[in-house]
Amino acid sequence: MVKIKIDGVEFEVDEKKNLIDAAKEVGVDIPYFCYHPALSVVGMCRMCLIEIEGVPRLQAACNTPVKENMGIITKSDRVKEARAGTMEFLLANHPLDCPVCDKAGECRLQDNAFGSGQGHSRFEFQKRNVPQEEIGSNLIINHNRCIVCYRCVRFEEEKVGESNLGLFERGNDSLIGLANNEPINHNFQGALADICPVGALLNNKTLFKSRVWWYKSHSSVCHGCSTGCNVTTNVRDNKMYRYMVKENHEKNMFFLCDKGRFDLDWMNENRLFSYMENGTPSTSINVIPKIANALRSTNGVAVIGGAHESNENLARIKSALTELSKELSKPIQFEVRVTEPQYKETEQVDFLLTKDYHPNTRGALDLEISTPQGLTGIVSDILSGAIDLVFVLKEEIPSSILGKATIVQLDTNITSSAKAANFAAPIKLFADEAGSFTNKNGLKQDFEKSMEAPKGLPSSAEFFEKVLSEIRKKEEALLGNR
Ligand code: SF4
Ligand code: SF4
Ligand code: FES
Repeated sequence: MVKIKIDGVEFEVDEKKNLIDAAKEVGVDIPYFCYHPALSVVGMCRMCLIEIEGVPRLQAACNTPVKENMGIITKSDRVKEARAGTMEFLLANHPLDCPVCDKAGECRLQDNAFGSGQGHSRFEFQKRNVPQEEIGSNLIINHNRCIVCYRCVRFEEEKVGESNLGLFERGNDSLIGLANNEPINHNFQGALADICPVGALLNNKTLFKSRVWWYKSHSSVCHGCSTGCNVTTNVRDNKMYRYMVKENHEKNMFFLCDKGRFDLDWMNENRLFSYMENGTPSTSINVIPKIANALRSTNGVAVIGGAHESNENLARIKSALTELSKELSKPIQFEVRVTEPQYKETEQVDFLLTKDYHPNTRGALDLEISTPQGLTGIVSDILSGAIDLVFVLKEEIPSSILGKATIVQLDTNITSSAKAANFAAPIKLFADEAGSFTNKNGLKQDFEKSMEAPKGLPSSAEFFEKVLSEIRKKEEALLGNR
């Protein structure tokens, strides 16, 4: 830590930071556009100009590292005039689009215009008007809104490892466009729209769906893979509309991939809210006693899956199964690993996404929810008849066991597995509750409840606890009859 003076007040700041981050840490905002903490510094927008004591010219704060005893001025008339000038240039060609722009409400241009702009324009010429273009499978560019900050180009080159975008022409004609005329097809089109500080890059999938101020937001963790990216959930009318990145500087988390970001429809559509028996709707009063009866006469029981569940649910399920096993006097095998990547060391698909599309394999393994024989061994026990009752926890039923055992599918959605199982039980999805996931590196991260489940919908843990109490109820009734 070193001492610096900001506007005459002394602060202790981290010497490894630049002036924008160091000032932000102590509550002083320096406006910026092109700077991004996870990308290289280019100093292109000139929005972050400040005075440094002893240096005659204004300096870009993004490009200036902190030094012991330096004094900076962020609020002088010179600085204000420079910022207002930058804003005037940026807005000269910018359309008055805010009422129809998806970025409105979270746009840096709006924020900086309010904070540092002049409130009027001296620009009297015709603004340029370049037609909007589709530049990716889920990405459009509105050239008129672009402020040429180069964030998108740097992100692609430095993080994605592709150079699809480039800057063409000069001055008033500057355009961000496709370098090879090939549409962008990678897993980070949402991140491109996200890091664009204005509404120039937008995703088709979310276009005109909502205004940002209509959302309720919660802190959460992406469900899409074992990386466990930090997200802010945006919910409206109890529907999950968006995942936005929740920057975590300490853990170096600044982006989301499209696989996780856009995989949200299942939370809002085709949900399983009633029990099912052989593919037709039923009730808990009908189904739970039948499952309890099946458990009594079974040769062996297994539970497979569970890596979509929170650590808290898994711990409760594990203890309910221990009790159930005692009541039934037979072992119950609980195996969380149902796909190949769950048996291996982490394999990356790209710089974020892993091949394990479960958010909590590591948490389940830390709770010792695994068997020495793994899924293959359980399947062969089912085929031999040693196991004849299987609970499948929000996973696809392995095709080889269909018809070979009584199958109880626990699911959040009306999936083909829920229809194919002998019984299906509806459960809450992770966002219906608070909890935690443990990511591929063993980092346990809490998430808040984002959505409200229908009254009476059980969690996976509550389902097993219900089955346990049904078994105990019958035991007590039998004892009473003696
Ligand atoms: S499209 Fe957005 S991110 Fe790219 S240069 Fe323009 S304003 Fe910056
Ligand atoms: S990398 Fe994984 S955790 Fe991160 S956004 Fe993509 S799917 Fe979600
Ligand atoms: S943020 Fe410093 S020049 Fe753009």
